[in-house]
Amino acid sequence: MPPQRICFLTAEISPFAKTGGLGDVAAALSRHLLQRGHDIRVFVPLHALSDLQGCEQRPVAALQDLSVRVGTNEYRYDVREARLPGSDLWVQLVDCPAVFDRPFIYSDAHDEHVRYLMLTRAALECCQRLDFAPDIVHCNDWHTAFAPLLLRTAYAWDTQIFGATRSVFTIHNIGYQGVFSASAAADLGPGVSIEALHQADLGHGRINPMRHGILYADAVTTVSPTYAQEIRTPEGGYGLDADLRARRDSVSGILNGVDYDDWNPAIDRYLPFHYDANDLTGKARNKAALLDLLRMNAAASVPLIGMVTRLTRQKGIDLLPDVLPKLLQEHDCRFVALGSGEAQYERFMHELQERFPGRVVFYSGYSEELAHFIEAAADIFLMPSLYEPCGLNQLYSLKYGTVPVVRRTGGLADSVQHFDPTTGQGTGIVFNDFDAGGLRWALQTALEWYGWPGVWHRLVQNGMQQDFSWDARIGEYEALYEAFGVSRK
Ligand code: ADP
Ligand code: GLC
Repeated sequence: MPPQRICFLTAEISPFAKTGGLGDVAAALSRHLLQRGHDIRVFVPLHALSDLQGCEQRPVAALQDLSVRVGTNEYRYDVREARLPGSDLWVQLVDCPAVFDRPFIYSDAHDEHVRYLMLTRAALECCQRLDFAPDIVHCNDWHTAFAPLLLRTAYAWDTQIFGATRSVFTIHNIGYQGVFSASAAADLGPGVSIEALHQADLGHGRINPMRHGILYADAVTTVSPTYAQEIRTPEGGYGLDADLRARRDSVSGILNGVDYDDWNPAIDRYLPFHYDANDLTGKARNKAALLDLLRMNAAASVPLIGMVTRLTRQKGIDLLPDVLPKLLQEHDCRFVALGSGEAQYERFMHELQERFPGRVVFYSGYSEELAHFIEAAADIFLMPSLYEPCGLNQLYSLKYGTVPVVRRTGGLADSVQHFDPTTGQGTGIVFNDFDAGGLRWALQTALEWYGWPGVWHRLVQNGMQQDFSWDARIGEYEALYEAFGVSRK
């Protein structure tokens, strides 16, 4: 396809700043679009905790000492570029201390919407200053979801820059919509009249950024085909299903890919031992090393179950108390979890560790290194999600020969096939119902199959042969961008 000019907006990008999958996807997708020859500008906040160590950086001369208006306030900012490690992509970091010099990426502060409106407006105004007329403005999640509305209102006058621009809004997680009080409606200004906002929400005293992304974007995507169906239903739509149904053909699902430069056991920079599908000795060594590091005594034959996750309701942690203690009593297995999040879930994990010393280890916090290490060392990877737009860890697990145990939902359903020992087909263990019985059955099945070396070997090999690389996905985004080109003529 002809190269497109793309303005990409995201709250996080790995490895500079990441809380979850959005960071990984923003980095990989924009990098691959650049590799395909597109002209892409990626705007992301310079968060106080952005880690730019060892990265090439430079100021953008044309983007110094600027200000942008959000509501009645002016925000001063500069733009700096940093090169994404291992790529030619220079990321535009919006340096606005008034809103981003804070010790978090997200918060429930009263001005949370203002922070990301600042980013969104700054990005569009930078396009104007750089004389960069984007074919596509691609925004992600609620944080930058006002971009399509702003393009149709506040910046519509600038037909030279935005006259041919089409917008794509990608939903990574509909559970977070960024709702704020209607009393702050003036913060949408200047150039956005109150009539442009969703009237029923205003009547209920609120403004929902994600809803406006859905209503105003030229195309709405989400990160797996199954999730694209689920969010159209009352159970999966979290109040936005009717809006999504109304957009019909403009809503589609494109499964995320994996950046195999970062997530590949043959070259993973965090692993003490490398391995691939032809020789799994390194995997066994990683397991021994991790067990040793965590002071968990176990013979090599004892199965290790791993989990790396935000500790939230979405991730299915509610099912664990009814299943894990009993499983640990009845089977000789080990459990290692890395995660942080809601207090009650952290408490459960700590208690489990206390109850099963040397058999359960919970590492509370965030560690990129340990995340990779667990992926490589574990035999079984647990993702019993209540819902999962795509999920990346199950994709990583497949590549790392770590058999995923997942619930059939969203991207988990699209990427893991339940194994059938009679045919030898399938890549993991998939359970249907979100209840303790379903999870118990899945884990018991995993432990049973682990005990049959021939079956397990086949299951591991099947997973390792899967290809979820971005190369295969990027064409779907290009087709979407190109479809606009056709309709514009
Ligand atoms: P989500 O974006 O909903 O959290 P994904 O599976 O798409 O779920 O992506 C999660 C990403 O965040 C993965 O790269 C995973 O390794 C990482 N991650 C989650 N929790 C932690 C943690 N505590 N430490 C390190 N990495 C984490
Ligand atoms: C969200 C979703 C996750 C998805 C990620 C990247 O955080 O919860 O399922 O993989 O975004 O798209």
